[in-house]
Amino acid sequence: MSSHLSSPRRWRRAALAVLAGGALAAALLQPSTPAAGDDPPPYQDPSLPTAERVADLLGRMTLAEKIGQMTQAERVDIDADPSLITTNRLGSVLSGGGSVPAGNTPEAWADMVDRYQEAALATPLGIPLIYGVDSVHGHGNLQGATVFPHNIGLGATRDPALVQTIGHITAEETRASGPQWVFAPCICVARDDRWGRTYESFGETPALVTKMETAIDGLQGAPGHLADPDRVLATAKHFAGDGLTSYDESAAGTGAYPIDQGIDRVTRAEFDALALAPYIPAIKEHHVGSVMPSFSSTDFNGGDTTDAVKMHANQELLTGWLKQEQGFEGFVISDWRAIRQLPGTYAEQVEASVNAGVDMFMEPIQAPNNPTGWDEFIPTLTQLVDDGDVSMARIDDAVSRILTAKFELGLFEHPMVDRTHLADVGSKAHHAVARRAAAESQVLLRNQKHALPLAAKRDVYVAGSNADNIGNQAGGWTLTWQGGSTNVIPGTTILDGIRKAAKGDVVYSATASKKVPRKSVGVVVVGETPYAEGFGDVGGPQWAYDPGDHGVPRPEQTMKLSSADTSAVQKVCARTVSCTVLVVSGRPMVIPPALLRQTDALVASWLPGSEGAGVADVLYGRRPFTGRLPVSWPRSVAQEPINVGDAGYDPLFAYGFGLRTR
Ligand code: GLC
Repeated sequence: MSSHLSSPRRWRRAALAVLAGGALAAALLQPSTPAAGDDPPPYQDPSLPTAERVADLLGRMTLAEKIGQMTQAERVDIDADPSLITTNRLGSVLSGGGSVPAGNTPEAWADMVDRYQEAALATPLGIPLIYGVDSVHGHGNLQGATVFPHNIGLGATRDPALVQTIGHITAEETRASGPQWVFAPCICVARDDRWGRTYESFGETPALVTKMETAIDGLQGAPGHLADPDRVLATAKHFAGDGLTSYDESAAGTGAYPIDQGIDRVTRAEFDALALAPYIPAIKEHHVGSVMPSFSSTDFNGGDTTDAVKMHANQELLTGWLKQEQGFEGFVISDWRAIRQLPGTYAEQVEASVNAGVDMFMEPIQAPNNPTGWDEFIPTLTQLVDDGDVSMARIDDAVSRILTAKFELGLFEHPMVDRTHLADVGSKAHHAVARRAAAESQVLLRNQKHALPLAAKRDVYVAGSNADNIGNQAGGWTLTWQGGSTNVIPGTTILDGIRKAAKGDVVYSATASKKVPRKSVGVVVVGETPYAEGFGDVGGPQWAYDPGDHGVPRPEQTMKLSSADTSAVQKVCARTVSCTVLVVSGRPMVIPPALLRQTDALVASWLPGSEGAGVADVLYGRRPFTGRLPVSWPRSVAQEPINVGDAGYDPLFAYGFGLRTR
């Protein structure tokens, strides 16, 4: 207040003037909730340009309504009382991996999302909810959805058109069951196969990953089609450098993640080339609607890690590079409670991430796992705005981005689930595409004596831990977050496919304990058990992820064959006319030289998903082998990280390698 106001009377007059002015301003700016009978306000007029509708709506919103739009809860937090969406003005809800409605049917999902939507529409401005889910290889959470090969197998296909078709089917099955937004595709470039998320990557080169970004087109459709009942908003993740983290030997075996969510110890030039590059076409060519930052950090200066910067607080990259330089107009969604890994108090974490450019906050409580989540986020951000630590301009930018997506998804006109395609979930036609994708993803690495394709008339002996396990061939993010060997989904195992294709006798014995009939050909399907994120790190945690059952051991991931699988290969390959080994895994596995010499044929099968019959199609020559390695196949774990272009590059099988039949 200036010094010329000396007398008390003047102070009072001045104070009253300020108060009156403030009240007038408040009255003018008072968010005006449209009253029944009024002409619909502009934001409810679909004939107007989206930008006009956003501006009109924004001008009507209170700070509480704005911050509510920036807040995402998990379904467990509100399912018992959806009115929490109404009272807290929540803008979004997600299903974490395995968080499903009772019954887990397409109808139950649609009913659930509609129930939450009704709560959102009960708010004064009736801003619809957006529901997000990890449809990373089909709507994997949903029992009955078509489950496709994970990205590493899709990278092996080198077939962008197929990947676009898979994206479209995924969008159709997801949107029909309610969610309008998927946290996919991961456009991570996997550089060290010890990383538990290698299977979520299309491959080790930005060129291959970029080629497969047609997944975004399949999910979103052409610009202007987001409101269609068979399209969803896509998410490019995890921005950036999630696959470039370095392995921390000291963390192996301690229960921590040795590489997932770690530090990118690369130069800025390497980061630009390997981590940022895929985001340019994702934004400019494929118009991806949202971006999720990585848990990881960057440390461009090498040496100690005191200057490592968490991606969720990296303003130069989130706002400077992504939004300003690349012109990204979508919104940034934080990863699962990721801001709580930032330094400082929760208020400092919120302030840093909001000001860095994160727009919506995945802050689940998901009781009993965490004491607070979004219910702490809302008052914390409110206080930061009141204190001037977060500007209203930043809030308005975030909310405008979120509202733009909701308008473009058609949620204001059609907020309830459009169930047109509900009956197509898991259809034969969709499974036929899954089968073709499984076939095209197979990479033939060795084929001595033309062991493949198999002659249908031959008797066949099948063994190995992954020959008849649809949970193992589907991998993580299937029915549950981590996936599971006992997770059963509709489809066919590799053994089912062999039984259908073979005309001779089929003997199956996972451990090859049964007698091997003379003149049989042998097929041994080895590999990994399912995992997700850091639990898949080599040397990662072996306890169950849910604090409620820490006591439940999880299989250790080593990139090496189990002793049971090794023994099965040795037994079968010693007694059969020809011996084919298939590796069902989320990444390359070490095949020791002596074991390799015992095999006639070796196939990288990756995680083929729900249609193991597609694997049998190439084994029996119904389709040719056309796949090529999306990642280098190491001779040993000690070679990791190993990538094409490395000095002294000497893998067992090189990036891009793949034998063809026919
Ligand atoms: C997880 C993953 C991310 C996923 C999110 C929601 O932690 O990092 O990829 O989209 O949480 O499930």
